[in-house]
Amino acid sequence: MSTKDALLASVSEPVVSSGNKISVVGIGQVGMACAFSILTQNVSTDLALVDCVAEKLQGELLDLQHGSCFTKNAKIQASTDYSVTSGSRLCIVTAGARQREGESRLNLVQRNTDILKFIIPQLVEHSPNTILLIVSNPVDILTYVAWKISGLPKHRVFGSGTNLDSARFRFLMSQRLGVAPTSCHGWIIGEHGDSSVAVWSGINIAGVNLRKINPAIGTEDDPEEWSKVHRQVIDSAYEIIKLKGYTSWAIGLSVAALASSIISNSRKIHAVSVSVKGRHGIEDDVYLSLPAALGEDGISDIVNQSLTDEELERLHKSARIMQEVQENLQF
Ligand code: NAI
Ligand code: LAC
Repeated sequence: MSTKDALLASVSEPVVSSGNKISVVGIGQVGMACAFSILTQNVSTDLALVDCVAEKLQGELLDLQHGSCFTKNAKIQASTDYSVTSGSRLCIVTAGARQREGESRLNLVQRNTDILKFIIPQLVEHSPNTILLIVSNPVDILTYVAWKISGLPKHRVFGSGTNLDSARFRFLMSQRLGVAPTSCHGWIIGEHGDSSVAVWSGINIAGVNLRKINPAIGTEDDPEEWSKVHRQVIDSAYEIIKLKGYTSWAIGLSVAALASSIISNSRKIHAVSVSVKGRHGIEDDVYLSLPAALGEDGISDIVNQSLTDEELERLHKSARIMQEVQENLQF
């Protein structure tokens, strides 16, 4: 009799599937920040990692497994073979090239589109009912590409979008106002990038609209120059990439929050990259961020925000930029 058999009297077969399996494809700086956030925030106890670099994959797997005492004994798997992702409720894609100093996100589009052409079909093959959460940049374009390639319904393909931009905006609001970022309600919509749109008309604390207090907020006439807050959001990635070479922790935490809303079916509203065709007068088949409710089957609702004419024009400009990039895309 083995030690184990002498020690343990089996009462029932252990359950293999937790029902909350999440796969992360691309275990670089962002992918590992996502994985670590998901584990340490108990979003899932069933994680699969995929990458094309086998040795790094094995190293990250062992390093995470050695933390099992602190992650509720999460089941963590890793392989270059996509079968390891089978049965995923959610597949997070962070694989691909990142911006070098001075590059924009849009500069990455063809390289990363070519990578998604390889990844997306394999994820859908092994988890036909999954939800795809695209993080790789340019995230709005790549979310459109992922949707087109996957054949999945639009509500099950979305991008991290301006969930990160909105979090940055709320942090900067909190720095100015001295209250917690979670109590600062400000939405960044549109492109996750240089043409993002700050919805100044809706910025509020406890329902107190700041434009009622400072009618010039967000405009060039504002003596307090609140418009610099949005500028700082747009410049964030460039600043951090210049300092440390990449961004990772905030996007990891942001993605874990999105994953949590999916796995817990919370229907919490986040600014995420969704199909905006037919919304706010946009006719192009593009993805941009709008406030959307996330649940166990992906996007359940999109908020019909009331936008000023200026905010609408900026959103349409974002859409035009996406359309122009998509027109030249080979996939
Ligand atoms: P990284 O270079 O650290 O990691 C990329 C990983 O992808 C590497 O491990 C690489 O081996 C893997 N990979 C490349 N081709 C692959 C393939 N065909 N199959 C599987 N794995 C593959 O880059 P980092 O810093 O993690 O950034 C990843 C992506 O995330 C970039 O596109 C970056 O721009 C984007 N990003 C997006 C953010 C957002 O808010 N949406 C924020 C931060 C980064
Ligand atoms: C960001 C870039 C890298 O951190 O997408 O916003």
